[in-house]
Parts: sequence; structure tokens; C-alpha cells
Amino acid sequence: ARHLLGIEPLAPAEITTLLDLAETYVDLNRRTVKHSDALAGMTQINMFFENSTRTQSSFELAGKRLGADVMNMSMQNSSVKKGETLIDTAMTLNAMHPDLLVVRHPQSGAVDLLAQKVNCAVLNAGDGRHEHPTQALLDGLTIRRAKGRLHRLTVAICGDIAHSRVARSNLFLLGKMENRLRLVGPATLMPAGARDWGCEVYEDMREGLKGADVVMMLRLQKERMDGGFIPSEREYYHRWGLDAEKLALAAPDAIVMHPGPMNRGVEIDGTIADDINRSVIQDQVEMGVAVRMAAMDLLARNLRAERGAKASEMM
Ligand code: CP
Repeated sequence: ARHLLGIEPLAPAEITTLLDLAETYVDLNRRTVKHSDALAGMTQINMFFENSTRTQSSFELAGKRLGADVMNMSMQNSSVKKGETLIDTAMTLNAMHPDLLVVRHPQSGAVDLLAQKVNCAVLNAGDGRHEHPTQALLDGLTIRRAKGRLHRLTVAICGDIAHSRVARSNLFLLGKMENRLRLVGPATLMPAGARDWGCEVYEDMREGLKGADVVMMLRLQKERMDGGFIPSEREYYHRWGLDAEKLALAAPDAIVMHPGPMNRGVEIDGTIADDINRSVIQDQVEMGVAVRMAAMDLLARNLRAERGAKASEMM
């Protein structure tokens, strides 16, 4: 494929290939990623129309570790502020012949639209409540490393499912890999039709966590709640916050995940988030660099093959 826009179109074998390649970028002893020259001579532009700490920095680091020239567009200071449209901005950058565009945008579908207009590979770094594919891939790699497999696990995804692109991408990925999926949270934050997705749905968190191998917590995304139900943080923590008492109902070796940014004392108790015996939150961040290296490495190979084929056609 030319782009990585979502997990939905990927086959299980493609997911495994990406994770296997990411694994080669992890140094097992030093737990750091290796350098390579897979993107040497290529230009990567990061366009983030929404705030980011983890995704933007890890895409930048991943590009640099693969030898690309990496440019971070500061969208706050760009001509978007003067009314330039997303497509005009993209076409302007396209005219500078980048090889890889990494895009985060608040509107679902915006990154797909942009990908149709440019000549380079596009990686979706999160679009609205649609998809965040590299997050699901790094979550998949983290689970596989912690549990020794990425299939036949009971995974409880907890919290604000309705507004979460992380939940959507993970549902696609974990579903394709044949895991048992549970969605846990208030009915008002559960997407319509969630019961038809092959998931078990629980409003009672204690029921939803029983025997789970993986407990994936999500942030309350108040910025996406347009006037709907916003529970008080105290009430939310009481019913749906992960504390030691609720976690004790999961499998004894259950791992705790959170994509970040995390609101301590709202969806998760800070002590659990910091407990290195249960929490793999820092591993998730670490795997983010390796997974983004793998995704860009594979897309760069495809791009080079596509360009090579075009060049031979013209000869
Ligand atoms: N998980 C995630 O996407 O974090 P950032 O918003 O910091 O990139």
C-alpha cells in the first residue's frame, strides 16, 4: 500500500509483518531502537493540526533514526491561521516533493482526503474519532511482548469509547487477531451499535474486568464532547476509574495500558499507572518509536518500488 490511513483495511498478515519488522528495531538488551538508513535521502514532513506529545516526537525520532530529513510544521504559526484550507496547505507542501507526510487532524476523514491529493506516502497520526493506526500497532506490539502472544486474550477497553480513535483502531487490530474484546464504560460514552461489533459491553466495570488479561484505560475526551453527558470527575473515578480494588478482579498477571495523555485520579489511579509490575504504559511509549520506524520503512520501500516501476515504464 502507498499509505497507512487506518487498521481497518489491513489483513492480519500485514499487521504481523509490521510488528515483526518493528521488533527488529528494538535492541533487546538496551531496550532502545537501532539506527538504519531506510529513509536516507527522503524527506518527512510532520503536520500536526492537534496537540501531541508522544506521537509527534516519536515520529520525528523514528524518521531521524532511519536517516530521513525531518521537518516539523508548526501548524499554530502556519497560514492555516489565515484561512488556508487543509488541501491548499497539503498541495503547497506537496510541491516541495516530500516522501512521507505524517498528519494529525481533528476531523475524521481529513487525512484520507489529503492522501488522495498528494504524491507521497501519508501516515495517519490520528484523525478525529476515526483512527490512530500507529497507536494500535504499538499497543499490539506491547501486548505481544508482555503476554507472549497477540491472540486469544481477553482485552477490556475501558472509558470513553465513543470519542476514541485509539479504541476504534484497537478494536480493528485486536479483533482481526482473534481476541475476546470487552468494552467497559458509561452507556453515554458507548458508541451506538457497539454490541454489534462482536464485543461484550459492560457498564459495570467490576463485571467487565473479571479475568481480563489486558486492561486498556482511555482518557475522558472532553474536547470531543459537544454538550453530551460529562460526568463529574469524582463520580467517574468512583465508577470507572481503575483502582487497586477493581484491578484485583482482572487476571492475576493482567497488564495495564493507557495511550496517554493520562488524567491521574480521573480514569486511573496514579499508583497503578506507575507500578512497573502491572503497568506497561512506558513500554507503549517505547514501542511507539519502533512501530513508527517499521511503518515508515515499509511505506518507503513501497514508494521506491512504485517510483522504480514508473521510471522503467518511461524508458
Ligand atoms: N497517544 C497519543 O496519541 O498521545 P499524543 O496525543 O501525546 O500524541
